[in-house]
Amino acid sequence: MIRESAPAKIILFGEHAVVHGQPAIALPFPALRAQITIRESATALEFRSVNGTLLAAPHLPKRSDPLLLQVLLTILCRLRIDAREVSVLLDSGIPQACGLGSGAAIATALTRALARHAGRSISAAEVNDIVFETETLFHGTPSGIDNTVIVHESALCFTRGMEPLPVRIARPFQLLVADSGDRCATHIPVSAVREQLQLHPEETAMILEDIGAIVHRASRALACMQPPALGALMYDNHALLGKLGVSSPLLDDLVCAARSAGAAGAKLSGAGRGGVVIALVEESRADDVALALEEAGAVQIWNTTIQATN
Ligand code: MEV
Repeated sequence: MIRESAPAKIILFGEHAVVHGQPAIALPFPALRAQITIRESATALEFRSVNGTLLAAPHLPKRSDPLLLQVLLTILCRLRIDAREVSVLLDSGIPQACGLGSGAAIATALTRALARHAGRSISAAEVNDIVFETETLFHGTPSGIDNTVIVHESALCFTRGMEPLPVRIARPFQLLVADSGDRCATHIPVSAVREQLQLHPEETAMILEDIGAIVHRASRALACMQPPALGALMYDNHALLGKLGVSSPLLDDLVCAARSAGAAGAKLSGAGRGGVVIALVEESRADDVALALEEAGAVQIWNTTIQATN
């Protein structure tokens, strides 16, 4: 039996602008993981969830989720393996279409597990490359940030087409991750931003550049860990994402509720129009902020400590 897993991710700053060449900061969120287990089986390759639901099987295309079937076939093709008579089980605690990188985490764990099953050693760069290709199935023009942070499982500053840089975090800090309960496929807000860029090129380019400038300031605030400065940048980043049209009344309410309850900062995280809001909190305020988020409509809240880096 082979078992591999990959974490969820959190975009701390810079989503959407990163698609258009600006930097962004992302963190792994290891409390939520997608796990793949592979076992020999008497039947043809089947990819199922732990509750037994068939997700994808090359010999049963009509009963397969079309996207997951394509992901599976892309990985098999890129690994040049012909996996017959195996059962592939997915056990994922990462909610989908929520901004937490569920698709990239599943593809990462699946790639590693299938490679191991075939006796192939595979480098992180190769996994990253394959998972990037599967990401294009989900939303056509991914920046590459989700697969990179998930495959490397470390905090990084990512700019499209460049080597990711490690992010220096001087001291641990606490984030609340609040699920709005609304779901939105990544390609919808990504296309909306592209349209806005075509309709209002100068204005939109300025918003994207302002987000890039926030990311640079946030890198410095993380390096000396100044929660008030970092938090203010989160509120600014959220406001700019609103101007890009990727927030929603519920996400705005959640950010507002976190602010009123004393969060140092809050913003939507990921593609937006649904999904999660993250809030930077001092330990003493965490319960109040969590309660305020719940009252404002959050359906689930995770409290996570982001570790310092060297
Ligand atoms: C999605 O997690 C982040 C976006 O910036 C899209 C991308 O970078 O590919 C919205």
